[in-house]
Amino acid sequence: MFGGTILFLMNDIVRDGDPVLRAVAKNVEFPLSDEDKKLAHDMMEYLENSQTPELSEKYGLRPGVGLAAPQVGVSEMMAAVLVPSNDENDDTPVFKEVIINPVIVSHSVQPTALSEGEGCLSVDKDVPGYVVRHDRITVRYQDMNGEKHQIRLRDYPAIVCQHEIDHLNGHLYYDLINKKEPFSLPDKNTVVID
Ligand code: NI
Repeated sequence: MFGGTILFLMNDIVRDGDPVLRAVAKNVEFPLSDEDKKLAHDMMEYLENSQTPELSEKYGLRPGVGLAAPQVGVSEMMAAVLVPSNDENDDTPVFKEVIINPVIVSHSVQPTALSEGEGCLSVDKDVPGYVVRHDRITVRYQDMNGEKHQIRLRDYPAIVCQHEIDHLNGHLYYDLINKKEPFSLPDKNTVVID
C-alpha cells in the first residue's frame, strides 16, 4: 500500500447533486466479476488510507468510516465499512467488512443519534442536526465470497451501516434531519452517542 498507487482520491468521490446518489442501486451477482472485486478492494483501501494520518494528509483524503459504491459512481449494492478500534491497546477494528446486497431485517424501536450529527464524503457542506436512526439493527449481507451473514450491531457501528445502506437506496444523511428543529429529539429514550 505505501508507495503504491492510491486508487481513489477525493476527485473520484461523487458529490451531492449527481443522480447516481439518488438511485436505488442494483443487486450484485455472484461470483463477483473482476471489476466488482477490484471495486470492493479499492473502496476498503480508500477507508484504510483515509484513516492513516500521513496518507490522508499527503493525498488530501477526507477520513471516512464507510464508502458506498454509488459514491464512486457505481450503482451497485456494495459498501465498505471500517469502524476503527477505540481501544488504544488493541487496533483490531470494531467492524471491517465489505457488505454486499445488505438488508436491515429487523431493528430496535429505540432510536439513536450522534451528538455531533453525521458527515458524508459526498456532501461537502456541513448540515447540522441529529440524524435519528435505529440504535440496534440486524443486517443480512453477503461477503466478497458470496457467503451470507446475519449480524447484530448497536450504537456507532449500527449508525455507520445504516448510513451506508441508505446510500444504496438513494438516501443521504441530511434527509433524516428535522428541517424545522434539527436538534430536537422527539423520543426521550434516544441514545445520543458522543
Ligand atoms: Ni455518506
